[in-house]
Amino acid sequence: MTSLSFMECLASPQSDCFASPSFWAPLALLAILTAVGFVAWRQEVVVFRRLRRRSLLAAASVLTVSFAAISTIAVVDPEAITTTDTSPFSQTAWAVALTSLGAGVTLLAGALSLALGGRLAKLMSRRAAQSNLRLIIAIDGPAASGKGTLAKRIAQHFSLPCLDTGLLYRAVARDVVDQGQHLNDVAAAVAAAQRLNAATLDDPALRGPAAGDAASIVARIPAVRAALLDYQRRFASQPDGAVLDGRDIGTIVCPDAPIKIYVTATPQERARRRHIEHTQRGETVPYETVLADILQRDARDSSRDIAPMEPAADAARLDTTSLDADAAFREALKIIAAKKA
Ligand code: CDP
Repeated sequence: MTSLSFMECLASPQSDCFASPSFWAPLALLAILTAVGFVAWRQEVVVFRRLRRRSLLAAASVLTVSFAAISTIAVVDPEAITTTDTSPFSQTAWAVALTSLGAGVTLLAGALSLALGGRLAKLMSRRAAQSNLRLIIAIDGPAASGKGTLAKRIAQHFSLPCLDTGLLYRAVARDVVDQGQHLNDVAAAVAAAQRLNAATLDDPALRGPAAGDAASIVARIPAVRAALLDYQRRFASQPDGAVLDGRDIGTIVCPDAPIKIYVTATPQERARRRHIEHTQRGETVPYETVLADILQRDARDSSRDIAPMEPAADAARLDTTSLDADAAFREALKIIAAKKA
C-alpha cells in the first residue's frame, strides 16, 4: 500500500494520496474533533468550551514563539536554514523552531476543528429556532426547583432571550419597601408595578431570601399581576421567541407556548440547594429556616386565587430531585425535541 504523508500530499497532490492511510489520518482526527465540538456544544459540556479557548490561546502562543524564532534565525544565521554546514547550535535552534511550528499548526487545526463543530451546532439550533417561527418556552415550578438555571441554559442553547419573571415581582416588592410602604398596600404595590424599571432587575439585592418572600406577598395582588402581564407577553413575542421562567408562564402569560416544562423537586432537596446558594453568597441562614421559607412560599403561591402556581395541562413534568444541572438540561432537551417532533 502506498504511504504518502499528509504533508507530501499537500506539497504535490496526486491520486495515490487517496489510498494512503497517513493522508486520511489527520483528516479523520480533525473530523473527530469537529464532531466532539458539535456534541460538546449541544450538550453544553463546559469543560470543552474551556478546552477550545485554551487550545486556541496555546496555539497562538506557540505559533508566535516559533515565528519569532524562525525570523530571528533567518536574520542572524540564514545558513542554518539552507545548509547543514553551520554551527550545531543554529542547526538545533532551527530544528526546534520547525518542530514548534508544526506543533502550533497542529494545535491550531485541532482548536479550530473543535470551534467549527461548536459553530455548526449553534447555527443548527438557531435555524431550528427560526424554523419554529417563534419558539416560546415556558418553564414553571416552585422555588429552587432548578427552573432558573435550566431556563438560562435552554435560552443559551437556542440563542433565545431569557426572562426570569420572579425578578419582576421581587423588584416590585423592593420598590414598595423603598417607598416606605407596606407590602400589603395594594395601591403602593400596583403603582410600583406600573412604574417598574426593567433596567433595575440586575440589582443583587433582589437575590436574597427576604426578597423572594416579599415578592410572593405582592404577587398575590391581581392588579400587580395584571400590570406585569403586558411586559412579560411583549418579552415573549420577540421575533425568534423567548424563554420565560416563573409560576404562571404556561398557564397565564403564554398559554399558547408550544413548549412548557414544569420543574419540580422535593422541598427538602430544594431547601438543600437554596441553603448552598446562601452559604456561597456568605449568608448564614440555617437549613431549617430555608426549608420553612420554601414551604411557606409554596403554600402561598399555590393557594392564591389568581394565577396560582400549577402545571399547565399540556406541560411536561421534570422532577430534578436526583438530577444535577447538566442532567436536568439533557432531560429538558429531550422534552423539547419530543415536543418539536
Ligand atoms: O427563584 P425562586 O423560585 O425562589 O423565586 P422567583 O422565581 O424569583 O419568584 C419569587 C416569587 O415571585 C414567587 O414565590 C412567586 O410568589 C412570585 N412569582 C409569581 O407569582 N409569578 C411568576 N411568574 C414568578 C414569580
